[in-house]
Amino acid sequence: MAFVLAVTGSAVGLGNIWKFPYVTGQYGGAAFVLVYLACIVLIGLPVMMSEILMGRRGRRNPVATMALLGAEEGKSMNWSWLGAMGVIAGVLILSYYSVYGGYSVAYVVKILSGVFSDARAADVIAVRDSFEGSWVLVGLFHTIFMGVSIFVVARGVEGGLERAVRFMVPGLLLLLIILLGYSMNTGYFGAGMAFMFTPDFSKLTWEAVLAAMGQAFFTLSIGMGAVMAYGAYLPEETSITTSAAAVAIADTTIAITAGLVIFPLVFANGLNIDAGPSLVFITLPLAFGQMTGGTVFGTLFFVLLSFAAWTSAISLLEPAVAWVVEKYNRSRAEAAVLIGVAIWAIGLGTVLSFNVLKDVRFLRGTLYDNLDFLTINVMLPLSGLFIAIFAGWVMCRNSTAEELGGAGTSYRLWRVLVRYAAPIGILFVFLKAVGLLELS
Ligand code: PFF
Repeated sequence: MAFVLAVTGSAVGLGNIWKFPYVTGQYGGAAFVLVYLACIVLIGLPVMMSEILMGRRGRRNPVATMALLGAEEGKSMNWSWLGAMGVIAGVLILSYYSVYGGYSVAYVVKILSGVFSDARAADVIAVRDSFEGSWVLVGLFHTIFMGVSIFVVARGVEGGLERAVRFMVPGLLLLLIILLGYSMNTGYFGAGMAFMFTPDFSKLTWEAVLAAMGQAFFTLSIGMGAVMAYGAYLPEETSITTSAAAVAIADTTIAITAGLVIFPLVFANGLNIDAGPSLVFITLPLAFGQMTGGTVFGTLFFVLLSFAAWTSAISLLEPAVAWVVEKYNRSRAEAAVLIGVAIWAIGLGTVLSFNVLKDVRFLRGTLYDNLDFLTINVMLPLSGLFIAIFAGWVMCRNSTAEELGGAGTSYRLWRVLVRYAAPIGILFVFLKAVGLLELS
């Protein structure tokens, strides 16, 4: 149970409530959602199981685990590079994740101050603009968010983490259901449902498919060594298949519910569906400002969202810290501060992307846009690809069957997915999206 709670804490976070609705909005809705769901089941779940089983066999930080498993299977120890890529992806992701975690904390303060009471769309957007326009404020909340994350990892408080997840996930779901009631009364619930579930595949681009796949990895916390690092603490007798499925179901439920809350609000208020990363910080304050008891519910919601973001941030920081502790023999506290401060500094790039450096654009857009693209659309799919290859082709059948509890039907299904569906699917989508495969 402790393991499932910790991995759920890692999986459920800003990815579900902040990122899923905004990328779904950007990529046009239902077709994107369906591809995303297919990626969760056919690629995400088998890769997650692979990561957990590798972590449990290696019982070290991801870099050392990959070297050890490579050697154990009589193959190269250079597989440690795969662990290293995951650790680096985690570091880069946390650098901007922390900025949005900071938004979430900032919105607790804003809701409490009453600025959103009876506010209209234009007012809420103005609040967002003035916050986002100030690098001092965004930077301050990024600092607070990162500071708390460093503190928790430095102390190594597993017990606290479990307790937090136990009330956070049900609490978030409860508040989302209350919000759902509000969304249903806007008169635009049908429009929101249609946007999410009536697909128009003619508008789906390969880039959108790649983004859906990246989002599936991001939301399940896979491809970064986070789940692998947690897998190292998993007892032998716990079922990996059941644990992974439980996490994926909880995670997907929260994301879909968040979408069902947010899209009707977008249509009801005439908002821009591709508003980008601040979509949730416009729609939800509007709803809280108008509903009865909105200040209480709104405060609770952003408090819980901040907790959800923290439990995810901790799992993003953990692999890099574990690696420095084991490799350089540093204390946990020292390693957490060292790495945490470096991540905080990289995060300043994202802080500035929305104000001072707003007009500095290259390749995919602002610095944040580039970091986002590099991590979600490039690093995660690539690392997912190699994890699938490792678990499916490099590790022998006996090793994986032993970890997954024998060679029954579910094992055979896993093995087909991880040997064929996942690697071929990822590679195909990746090459299509970057334009290297010109099949019609
Ligand atoms: N899965 C988290 C979310 O959806 O917010 C983000 C995340 C956490 C990604 C940990 C990766 C990770 F290792």
